[in-house]
Amino acid sequence: MRRVYLDNGSTSYPKAPGVGKTMMEFIEDVGCNVGRGGYKLSYSLAERIINAREKLCRLFNFDKVSNVIFTPNVTYSLNFLIAGLLKPGDHVITSSMEHNAVARPIEEAKNRGIEVDIAYCNNKGELDLSHFESLIQSNTKAVVMLHGSNVSGTLMPVEKVASICEKYDIYFILDAAQTAGVFDLDMKKIKIDALAFTGHKGLLGPQGIGGFLIEDKLAESITPIIQGGTGSISDSLDMPDFLPDKFESGTLNIPGILGLSTALDYILDKGIDNIRKRELRLTELFLEGIKNRDDITVIGLDTVDNRCAIVSLDFINRDNAELAFRLDDEYGIMTRCGLHCAPMAHKTLGTFPKGTVRFAFGHFNTEEEIYYTIDAIEKILAL
Ligand code: ALA
Repeated sequence: MRRVYLDNGSTSYPKAPGVGKTMMEFIEDVGCNVGRGGYKLSYSLAERIINAREKLCRLFNFDKVSNVIFTPNVTYSLNFLIAGLLKPGDHVITSSMEHNAVARPIEEAKNRGIEVDIAYCNNKGELDLSHFESLIQSNTKAVVMLHGSNVSGTLMPVEKVASICEKYDIYFILDAAQTAGVFDLDMKKIKIDALAFTGHKGLLGPQGIGGFLIEDKLAESITPIIQGGTGSISDSLDMPDFLPDKFESGTLNIPGILGLSTALDYILDKGIDNIRKRELRLTELFLEGIKNRDDITVIGLDTVDNRCAIVSLDFINRDNAELAFRLDDEYGIMTRCGLHCAPMAHKTLGTFPKGTVRFAFGHFNTEEEIYYTIDAIEKILAL
């Protein structure tokens, strides 16, 4: 049976050309560590790692290569930022559309005496900016928010949120899990203090590699939540206070970084404008194909304006899990059904606890796959 992969919100597939080859060649032919060996091979590997940091700087218009930190994924990045920054007595604001990668570390912060407020979003996932601004207090330390919802695809007005944060001198920490590599996130123009990314979604790299880019002032305010060897100032029992070492204890995921670096070459070469236009074209075709049916509710916005390439559907009077199962079983169409690790978002959208079937389009999907999927949905609903 053919396979149509529409679970790119979970992880992208296929990866950018050459990612697997780069990783295999490193493991087979190089294999050494970085920052821990006094020989040429290790030094040249260090250059390749710096090169990967430079590409991330280029992608996000950021100029401090040392302030690009590698972690296993966006969840680790957000934990570093949230748990490392917030101290008892601080106040933090997030949105009601968050994934558990933000919601759970923030919930945990409450137990440590940190005040939390949730900015209201409507049932299409749109942030109420005036409510958001009204939540700001004198002790508000940071706003932590996603860019694109992994449930409805709705985009947050990041430019406006960032300028409100700037006005009140509050750190703006952005979870770019669903949008990095697809949407233009210019850290200087938007004034993002820390941008957390994962390598395996829109960045078209492997799983197990993510990170964050961070401005100096915020980095200085954060206590590293993981301590260990860094290959630097080994005579001290204290963590280095310089970047990236402050936040990079233990051996890095070198195959992952190199695989991501190859994916970044592909993205920078294609241009994210082209990547975004293509993904949104596929999303538009899908939305057009399923609209005006009284047996399907499209969750979130009706069009691709302010949306990333994610569409969640609720099949009225049907079991969403059965629909997802049949799409896979009878047509080879892979989706993700349920609550998508985002119960707050589903409550906001009115789809809790039933959940939705999520179609997440990616760079390598084709228009023909979209038509095939629409046809499959129609056939299943006709029976
Ligand atoms: N956060 C990922 C998703 O939305 C895994 O599926």
